[in-house]
Amino acid sequence: GVNKKQAQILCVGLDNSGKTTIINKLKPKETQAEDIVPTIGFTVEKFKSSAVNFTVFDMSGQGKYRNLWEHYYKDAEGIIFVLDSSDKLRMVVAKEELDLLLQHAEIKAKKIPILFFANKMDLRDSLSSVKCSQMLELEKVKDKPWHICSSNALTQEGLHEGVQWLTDQLT
Ligand code: GTP
Ligand code: MG
Repeated sequence: GVNKKQAQILCVGLDNSGKTTIINKLKPKETQAEDIVPTIGFTVEKFKSSAVNFTVFDMSGQGKYRNLWEHYYKDAEGIIFVLDSSDKLRMVVAKEELDLLLQHAEIKAKKIPILFFANKMDLRDSLSSVKCSQMLELEKVKDKPWHICSSNALTQEGLHEGVQWLTDQLT
């Protein structure tokens, strides 16, 4: 309805982690894209949960575009941080990017919720959400509500749980 809460959120994480695939699956069936390609810069998407109309900035995770993320920190009311739970080698890079985000003045200034997807849980040798949270040292994040869900964007497993948590934080 017209009184539904609106929220602007930011979706970040390394390239190839599955950000665009996740967001695509959250959109209404008739507006879903058939093919997902690596994001250039960013795109703006919309999806609805039970109680919130989300506008999401789907940022490119490629190294050369990561400097764009910070321009959207000021207006973000929530963050979705996507991890490729099967990419053990780059988990340290994901942690570096997360730490930069958390240390940024615009992020430090507010208590916005951060939802982590430990995505690609279907792949062999993927890390559990607990293991991912340990590698990112999420237990040290004490000034913001955060939550981590394992997900498989291809089957949508875990996506609803995550979005429901974010919805609860924003309403
Ligand atoms: P950038 O836009 O480059 O930052 O990447 P992205 O994070 O948006 O990743 P994208 O959604 O383009 O997905 C990258 C690849 O991972 C695609 O081939 C997806 O089909 C695949 N993928 C996404 N989620 C999953 C998942 O849960 N499991 C598996 N097996 N593959 C996935
Ligand atoms: Mg993308």
